[in-house]
Formats: sequence, C-alpha cells, structure tokens
Amino acid sequence: MAKPKTSKSPPPLCIVILAAGQGTRMKSDLPKALQPLAGRPLLKHVIETARSLNPAAIHVVYGHGGDRVREALKGEPVSWVLQTEQRGTGHAMQQVAPHLEDAQRVLVLFGDVPLITAETLAELVAADPQSLGVLSVELEDPSGYGRIVRDARGRVLRIVEHKDASRREQGIRECNTGVLAAPARALKRWLSRLSDRNVQGEYYLTDVVALAVKDKVAVKAHRTAAAAEVLGVNDKVQLAQVEAAFRLRQATALMLAGVTIVDPARLDVRGSVHVGKDVFLDANVVLEGVVTLGDRARIGPNCVIRDSAIGADTQVFPNCVIDRAVIGPQCNIGPFARFRPAATLGKSVHIGNFVEVKNSKIADGTKANHLTYLGDAIIGAAVNVGAGTITCNYDGANKWQTHIDDGAFIGSGAMLVAPVRIGAGATIGAGSTITQDTPAHKLTLERSRQTTVDTWERPKKRQS
Ligand code: UD1
Ligand code: CA
Repeated sequence: MAKPKTSKSPPPLCIVILAAGQGTRMKSDLPKALQPLAGRPLLKHVIETARSLNPAAIHVVYGHGGDRVREALKGEPVSWVLQTEQRGTGHAMQQVAPHLEDAQRVLVLFGDVPLITAETLAELVAADPQSLGVLSVELEDPSGYGRIVRDARGRVLRIVEHKDASRREQGIRECNTGVLAAPARALKRWLSRLSDRNVQGEYYLTDVVALAVKDKVAVKAHRTAAAAEVLGVNDKVQLAQVEAAFRLRQATALMLAGVTIVDPARLDVRGSVHVGKDVFLDANVVLEGVVTLGDRARIGPNCVIRDSAIGADTQVFPNCVIDRAVIGPQCNIGPFARFRPAATLGKSVHIGNFVEVKNSKIADGTKANHLTYLGDAIIGAAVNVGAGTITCNYDGANKWQTHIDDGAFIGSGAMLVAPVRIGAGATIGAGSTITQDTPAHKLTLERSRQTTVDTWERPKKRQS
C-alpha cells in the first residue's frame, strides 16, 4: 500500500558526535579521538561522514585531551561542546541538550565508530521523525556491546549494557552500535530523567530507549548487515581491525573503478585517489593525500606516493618515494628513486636508481639514470645526466638554481656548482666541477692532467 502523502517537510537534522572519552584501553598519551585511522584522526572520519549528510548543525562533545583535539581539528565546521568530566554517554548528551532545537531530529554518532557510512545512516535519518531509532547489528561475538532487549513479540524494550546484563541477556547477539536518532524535544526530556544507578555508575544514553517505550513513543531498532561499519575502537587490536576494514573498503572502490590490485590487503590508501583506466598497483603500495594515476600507470612494489600525479603509461619501479611531484606520461621511474616536493617531469623522462629530485623541472626525454641529486634545477629536453652528477645547490646559507639546457650531456661524477648554466648541446667531461656557465655545443672539462708517478711504491706492512 502506498503511504499517504504528507505536505510536511522533514525536520532539520542535527548531528551530535560523542568524542569526550579518554580511551583508557588504548593505553596511549594520544586522546582516542585523535588516534589515526588511515593517517587521519578517528574523529575526522566521523565528522566527514556527518558533513556528507548536510545537517543543519554538527556538535562535537569533547573532553579528554580537549585542547589537542580542538587544535588538531580546527577549521572543521562543527561546534564544540565541552564535557569536563566523563560520566557516560548520557551525561555527554546532557551537555549538548541546551544546544538542541526542539524541532530538530538528532542523530548521535560516536567518535570511536569511524567506518559508518552515510548510506547506512540514511534509513535511520529518514524514519518517522517522531520515532526513536537505534542502529543495531547482529554480532558473532557481542561481548562488550550493549544488547537490544526485545519482548516476546519482538518489540524493543530497552538496551542493557554488557556489564549490567544478566546471563540470559548476555546471550543476545543483537547489539547496539551506538548510533541513535530521536526527535530533539523528547530526547531532551529523556536525558533529564537518566540515572547513574548501574554497574559503571555512569549516565547511559542507551537508557533513553526504555524511557521512550514508557512514553509510548515508537522505538525501532534498524538492523544493519554492515557489521564492519559499526566496529567500535576501544583498544589497539580493534584499531588494527578497523584499519584493515578501511583498507579493504578503499581497495574495493579502486578495483570497482577498474584498477588491478595485486593484493588488496597490501594497499594502503590514506587520502583520495583519482585513477584512469587499467592502472596497476603492485604489493605494498601506500598512497597518501591526493594522488592521481593516469591511464595504464604501473606502480611497483613498496612505493609510497603522496600528493602527486603520475602520468599515463608511466612505470614506477619498486621502492620509490614520490612526494608532491608531478610526473608526466611515459616516464620510467626507479627502482629506488626519490622525489621531494615540487619536482615536475615532462614526457618520457627516465629517473633511475638512487636519484633524488627536488624542486626541479625536467623536460621531455631527459634521463638521469643513476646515483644523482637534482635540486633547484631547470633541465631542458633530451638531456643526459651521467651517473653521480650533483647539482650543488646550497652554499651553506642560500639555495641556487642550476640550468641545464636542451640536449646537454653531463659526464659522470660532475659537480655543478649553482648558480650555473650548462648551454644547449654542451658536453661536460666526467669528474668536472663546474662553477661557471658553459657554452652551448662545446666540450667543457675541469680536471687536472692525469699523471703517473714512476718512483712511487706501495707501502709495506710493518713487521713488529
Ligand atoms: C557504547 C554503548 C553500547 C554500544 C557501544 C558501541 C552506552 C552506554 N553504551 O559502549 O551500548 O554497544 O558503545 O560501540 O552508550 N563518550 C563521551 N563521554 C563520556 C563517555 C563516552 O563523549 O562520558 C564517548 C566516547 O568518546 C565514545 C562514545 O561516547 O566515542 C562511546 O563511549 P564508550 O565508553 O566507548 O562506550 P562503550 O562502552 O563502547
Ligand atoms: Ca566504544
């Protein structure tokens, strides 16, 4: 039967994130809200999910490690509510109550349940605005979680915390995820009636369920099948489990976008990745920040790529570290190459093993294949940089630029003392220390004439 149409628009959504807890079981000096998941604070993940629901307001209850939490997440569009003493989830909500507007629908999230998605929350948010909804999940091992207690007809009666549960109740496998949605006006009333008479001596938010039942308000437990999304992080074991679940989620999204991933369990995505077609990622690749991988880019094992773009058909061989670089198409990179910020490569550039590139522009077809440092350099097209070449960019006080023009050939072991310019098509003899600009299309060398000393003998070991 079709539902009767109502002319009423849904009430404005207000999201509360509870994150004041100390996280004693983490056994860490870092507040739980700031423990990293994929390189970002747990709380940041929850704030991002909350934001994606476009609520009218987001309140974050913070307390333990307060200043550090606010400092780490300053700039987030949330209002901060301080809970000076952590006396339970209900007590945390009591601190927010004055900020809730009666007409709002309130969605409560936990700062330590970071994998929850907007899709899973949608049903709860869209439910009858006057109802109390909790998100529940059926768990193989429910220990530690609050349990959903239902009557013989399956109606939700209350939530009992694990520590307060009877033996029979501990056998219940339907658990409270902590996510809850309620009309603000009624929620405030229930919050004012909470008591701390329980095993932990805390004000439990979960007790609002029994109060709603008493008030004859419709209570519904929305069972989710997405068990991995509602994992709570209370200790480092659970943090690792959540990290693994997150890793798999990121890898799955990339695979569905067409990326070949050798082993999804050995790919870490700590940020956002934009991919072209037929990208290939080998084992133990770490992608951080904003990373763009062009069509058919191949990333070899053990590479770390942060805030960089890799062009189409470029191959990155094993063990490269690429940080804030732009690498053009059809390049060959590594193995064992290192890019530091502001390296920009054109097309078909080869940067080989033990080559470090920093703040340099390298044009099409240039090669630096072995043991080289290129810093603060502007390098033209089709340049050949011999093994062991170093741009001596630092005089102990200032950094200077090296220019190497198109088609130059730098012999092995050359020291290019900046500021200096190597002319187009110039050749630099191996082992030269170049301190002045060199003319185009000429051979320049700087080294003393080779001599052989006839009178010299090898020292002999002394007899003692
Ligand atoms: C809570 C639920 C439990 C549920 C589980 C799901 C209660 C009473 N229990 O238990 O039913 O199965 O989560 O993960 O709600 N917090 C505050 N201030 C406080 C106490 C807690 O802000 O005074 C915050 C914590 O930072 C955390 C969240 O509330 O983000 C949950 O607190 P926690 O102590 O971890 O509750 P659980 O024992 O896991
Ligand atoms: Ca918890």
